[in-house]
Formats: sequence, C-alpha cells, structure tokens
Amino acid sequence: MKKITLALGLFGVLTFAEPLSLHEADKIGEETIQNFKQIFKAEIKSYKYDTLLMTKVCIEKTDLLLTNFNQSLQGGIKLKRITQKERNPKNKPETQEELKILQAFELLAQAGTFMPKNVIQMTQEDNYKYFAPIMLDEKTCVACHGSKERVSPEIANLLQKNYPNDKAINYQRGDFRGAIVVTIPSQSF
Ligand code: HEC
Repeated sequence: MKKITLALGLFGVLTFAEPLSLHEADKIGEETIQNFKQIFKAEIKSYKYDTLLMTKVCIEKTDLLLTNFNQSLQGGIKLKRITQKERNPKNKPETQEELKILQAFELLAQAGTFMPKNVIQMTQEDNYKYFAPIMLDEKTCVACHGSKERVSPEIANLLQKNYPNDKAINYQRGDFRGAIVVTIPSQSF
C-alpha cells in the first residue's frame, strides 16, 4: 500500500495512505486469483486420475485451503467464491449486489457473449470488489457437476451425503457457474 508522509514542522509527522487506484485494484485482484488457482491446482494435481478420491479431497479440504489462503493475504484482502446454484452453502452470495452481479454474468453467458475477464465494484465501505466469472469450461467438471448420466453413483452418493441440498448439478460444459470475488480495501491506515 502506498504511503505519503508529510512533515508538519512542530506538529510532527502525519502519515496517511493514498487510496488504491482502480488499476492497482485490478492488478491485485488478478494476482490474488492466480495465486489461489496455483495453490488449488497443486493440491488436487496428484488426484487427477481418481475422480472419487478427488471428490473426497474437495469435500474435506476446500474450506481449510481457503481459510489458510485468506490468512496469508495482507492488507485486509479476502477471496471467496459465490454462486446462485451452490453445493457448499458457504458459497451463497452475501449481499444484493453480489446477487445482481451473478445475475448479470448469467445474462451475458445466456446471450453468448465472450465473458468479461472481470468487473470491479466500489462498495459503500470503500472496498474494491473484483468479480471474475467462473465458467464450466473443462470437460472434467461434469464428472461432479453434471447430469445423472455423467456423475458416477459413488460420487453422487458422496455428494448427497455431504451436501443434502446440493444445487450444483445438471450443469453442462460451457455453462456459467459462479464468480471468484476478491475484496480489496481501497484505504489502509
Ligand atoms: C472431483 C469432483 C469435482 C470436480 C471434477 C469439480 N468440482 Fe467443483 N466442487 C466439488 C465439490 C465437492 C465442491 C464443494 C466443496 C467446495 O468447493 O466448497 C465444489 C464446489 C465448486 C464451486 C464452489 C461453489 C459451490 O457450488 O459451492 C465452484 C465454483 C466449482 N465447484 C466449480 C467447478 C468447476 C468450474 C469445475 C471444472 C473445472 C469443477 N468445479 C470440477 C467437486 C468437484
């Protein structure tokens, strides 16, 4: 975070932070997501050929991975995932604005646009919020988020047990799935 220090003669030194620019927030949002993806991919890489084991790992480890990742971030930055069709109830949108942005992405996807890399919002609390759309763009996704014919009975069972209200099923390749949200305080004193 940039700091400006003013020497005020007899009154001593006053330090205040210059607000982050939109461009800086854009960069921080993107870098934070890239870092998270790297860590997540490294975590699941070794299970790539065993979808059942990978399901177990996703069920057991995702929350912890996210908590640890967020604890490693500085300057009040936070990362989460949101969706209107959630598997993990923690991933529901928390504000009306989050919901509206998900709906806007959904409309763009339905209209067949090339999806924007991100949209950035400034909240009432002076935080930038960086939203990157998540598309179901790899064919592997449907093994755990697809229709009945695509999900093996063992995996379906495991998901049903752990997420009795699972809404993240019946997706097809190319569908809009949700967003990664990075919250970035614009001021830090
Ligand atoms: C091996 C099974 C498996 C595969 C393959 C898989 N997922 Fe998931 N997914 C899960 C599980 C389990 C959860 C719930 C745990 C969590 O992430 O909080 C989940 C949660 C999510 C969430 C968080 C939102 C929510 O509904 O809770 C998103 C977004 C997501 N998956 C997207 C994808 C995408 C995109 C792909 C393909 C690149 C994919 N998943 C492939 C099992 C899988």
